[in-house]
Amino acid sequence: MQKELLEKTKSHYDDFPFIEGGTNRITWWREYLRDFLPDQEIDDRLIIDVGSGVGEISRGLIDRGARLLCLDISLRSLLRCRQINQSAQVIHGSALELPFPNDSFDHAISIGVLHHTPDCRRGFHEVSRVTAPGGTIVIFLYNYWSIYNLIYHTFNPVLKKIQLNRIPCWVLRLLQPFVKSHLGQRLNDEQLRNLLGDKLWTPQATFHSISEVREWGLEVGLTLVSIRKFFLSYANVFRFVKQGLHNEFYRREMILKCLKCGNFPMIRHHLGYTCGQCGHIYSLDGGIINCISS
Ligand SMILES: C[S@@+](CC[C@H](N)C(=O)[O-])C[C@H]1O[C@@H](n2cnc3c(N)ncnc32)[C@H](O)[C@@H]1O
Ligand SMILES: [Zn+2]
Repeated sequence: MQKELLEKTKSHYDDFPFIEGGTNRITWWREYLRDFLPDQEIDDRLIIDVGSGVGEISRGLIDRGARLLCLDISLRSLLRCRQINQSAQVIHGSALELPFPNDSFDHAISIGVLHHTPDCRRGFHEVSRVTAPGGTIVIFLYNYWSIYNLIYHTFNPVLKKIQLNRIPCWVLRLLQPFVKSHLGQRLNDEQLRNLLGDKLWTPQATFHSISEVREWGLEVGLTLVSIRKFFLSYANVFRFVKQGLHNEFYRREMILKCLKCGNFPMIRHHLGYTCGQCGHIYSLDGGIINCISS
């Protein structure tokens, strides 16, 4: 059941990758995240963007000096992400099973992703697991107490029966005023369709209250430092810090963990990475490491 939902989500975002807003969106997110991750805390630090999509949010962090690892379940999104973030490491994988040992990253972000997985809490715990003590975790999740919760559950079952591709462009364009006030920019027809797909056609969207998410944090030693409401409160942006001391002098590099047997580090070679214990190979195709377990 979970696997089926994961597959559906993967194919949804391969068909309709999340929006690309270009320079405007990159700049907007670059500035927005400054309050969560100040310059001095990210310079030369290794940050994972779980569910990076095409990587516009990662791009802002890279521009501010961070080293990024972008992971997503949609290969099509990642192919674009590689172009937008040439210095990032790019991994095709799932947020529910991150192919890294504990404490691998200085910080982690996951913006608008975990609520699209079959198990949001598990994804949250995975992000926490791979973040080092003292690291910051920024998570954007749909708000349980929002009108959007009602809208999604009312329209999604009906709309699922209509192909998103069939929605005429004139209908999409009716969204433009909403998009302008939400994103501060207009989008072309293709991007409008992708946005609508994410908001109403996506196979899975779950909604979470602040107290629920705070509780998930407490379960794994995360302190909730701040929360910001996002556009009309349809989502909350959480800033957690993982308890423990941050080792400022340690320069982290990506370490891959075998999803089959848990062994790490993997052995790197020209075709990708091989597990020294079980022999499983994670191929490197066009610069993207394939960690989707089969
Ligand atoms: C709304 S988009 C957000 C993309 C990006 N964070 C941004 O804000 O531009 C949701 C993303 O989550 C990805 N996603 C959904 N389920 C996932 C999973 N289980 N593991 C990794 N990524 C997933 C989708 O492929 C999609 O790129
Ligand atoms: Zn192995």
